[in-house]
Amino acid sequence: MDKVVVSVCKETSKELENLINNAYLEGERGIFPWDNKENTRLKSNSESIQKYISRGEILVAHVYGQLAGSVRLDTKDQPGMVGQLAVSSEYRKCGVGAKLQEYCQEYAKLNFGMKKLTIEFINPTEFEHEFKTFLHAWYQRLGFVVVKETAVEDHPVYSNLGKILLTPCKFVELEKEI
Ligand SMILES: CC(C)(COP(=O)(O)OP(=O)(O)OC[C@H]1O[C@@H](n2cnc3c(N)ncnc32)[C@H](O)[C@@H]1OP(=O)(O)O)[C@@H](O)C(=O)NCCC(=O)NCCS
Repeated sequence: MDKVVVSVCKETSKELENLINNAYLEGERGIFPWDNKENTRLKSNSESIQKYISRGEILVAHVYGQLAGSVRLDTKDQPGMVGQLAVSSEYRKCGVGAKLQEYCQEYAKLNFGMKKLTIEFINPTEFEHEFKTFLHAWYQRLGFVVVKETAVEDHPVYSNLGKILLTPCKFVELEKEI
């Protein structure tokens, strides 16, 4: 889509937070007990998003001025980690996600001197999750290569997620030279 404009986000908004949380609610259905009620495990909230924004880590995509998607480049370590990629359901499959990925890679190189990026996603081990299967193939098409698979229980940071998962899962880590 020609009219996708990507920029560095300057401040958070309910619209941005809802976009991210709703996208993950959909993308991780059957994996996390996200139900928008008491059990909701929100991907994002004002406090964390504002912290990332202050570090220049959130990129947003607009289509004809409307917020359509966002991505985070975690700049804490090298290689940088691309995460929280989310496109609002009205704008899916029009190239917004691809444009965010492309911009994020240039941004990482030019602004943070990064030479490599990683992506990590969660994937059920006992059944084929259609959406995660698409994601896995898409990231590989974008040039990312699988470097590690870790059972959630063994993950150095997210092992406690094992307690709330609806099904056994692993984390798949991919890398790309940029
Ligand atoms: C993943 C996501 C960001 C993709 O955004 P998008 O704007 O729809 O992606 P694009 O339109 O750029 O599509 C990229 C390619 O994937 C294909 N594609 C997109 N969604 C697809 C789906 N659900 N199933 C199969 N193919 C799909 C597109 O057709 C396109 O293919 P092409 O390169 O051959 O043209 C979006 O689906 C989303 O927000 N999902 C929920 C949040 C999430 O799970 N994020 C990732 C967590 S790790």
